[in-house]
Amino acid sequence: MIGRALALAHGALAGAGPGLMPARASSVAEGVDRVFAFIFWVSAFFFVLIVVLTVVFVVRYRRRPGRLDPETTPSHDTRLELLWTGIPLVLVLVMFGLSTRTYVAMMRPDPGAGAPIEVRVTARRWSWWFDHPGGKGAPELHLVAGRPAELVLASADVIHSLYVAEFRLKQDAVPGRFTRMSFTPTLAGTYPILCAEFCGTDHSRMLSQVVVHPDQRSFDAWAREGVAPEASLVALGARVFQQKGCAGCHSVDGSRRIGPTLKGLWRRRERLAGGGDVLVDEEYLRESLVKPAARIVAGFPPVMPAVALEEREIQALAAFLQSLAEAP
Ligand code: CUA
Repeated sequence: MIGRALALAHGALAGAGPGLMPARASSVAEGVDRVFAFIFWVSAFFFVLIVVLTVVFVVRYRRRPGRLDPETTPSHDTRLELLWTGIPLVLVLVMFGLSTRTYVAMMRPDPGAGAPIEVRVTARRWSWWFDHPGGKGAPELHLVAGRPAELVLASADVIHSLYVAEFRLKQDAVPGRFTRMSFTPTLAGTYPILCAEFCGTDHSRMLSQVVVHPDQRSFDAWAREGVAPEASLVALGARVFQQKGCAGCHSVDGSRRIGPTLKGLWRRRERLAGGGDVLVDEEYLRESLVKPAARIVAGFPPVMPAVALEEREIQALAAFLQSLAEAP
């Protein structure tokens, strides 16, 4: 108890956030705090009001000698009904407006903010793995203050949730699909990463940290240090591409084989056999591996077999396809 109070006091002294909150280290933290504070104080106000009125009424209308029956009360008052419907309505509409604005800011990052650092995150029981651009994989996340970040999350087993209190952000990692998280860290420092979805025995110990570098140079220095090129996600993707026999039907140099070439395919819109089109992204890649016949690119035969891959291998293939798009 005393230790916790001291820790809180220390946090407050060390330039933490307002009140007892942790520091605000992302572009959306202030908006989240505003929504939280509004809902908290509205709830606190009504909690006090209701408890006080309950006590007053209990005392005032208690059963006394000579007053055994309830007093007669008016059965209806339209003004009162309008009032107690109108006030909560306005309050919840303000909550809706504030939180929707904050949520939209979370989902749609500022387009003028520059290219994001894209990090591929793989969660498993009970650890995190972060594959950074340039090939460096690490059990902790590294970002740059002021530079947008985009995380692509996958899970190898059950649902996990990546949570950084200082960012006021949380995103689930769900087996069988990809989820995304976009934000801009604003304050250099090191913050804890927690798993916020109960995932079994060591859920509470599924900890890591995010290091927000003060500038790009500091990040680059870290990202260069001790990188084993053959351990990078792109290299793993290239190996999977060879070992699983993908190269039999898909070229990487633009030439046409049984299936579409993978060169320049990433994030492109492809026309589909049977009409419509599809954006070639992580989701389409996953679908094409699991259920190849679901959406076939126009002009190609539906002959691809399903390919069983581990979650990180799918992440690796995505990184490999992306590297083919970025290559000249
Ligand atoms: Cu992973 Cu809880």
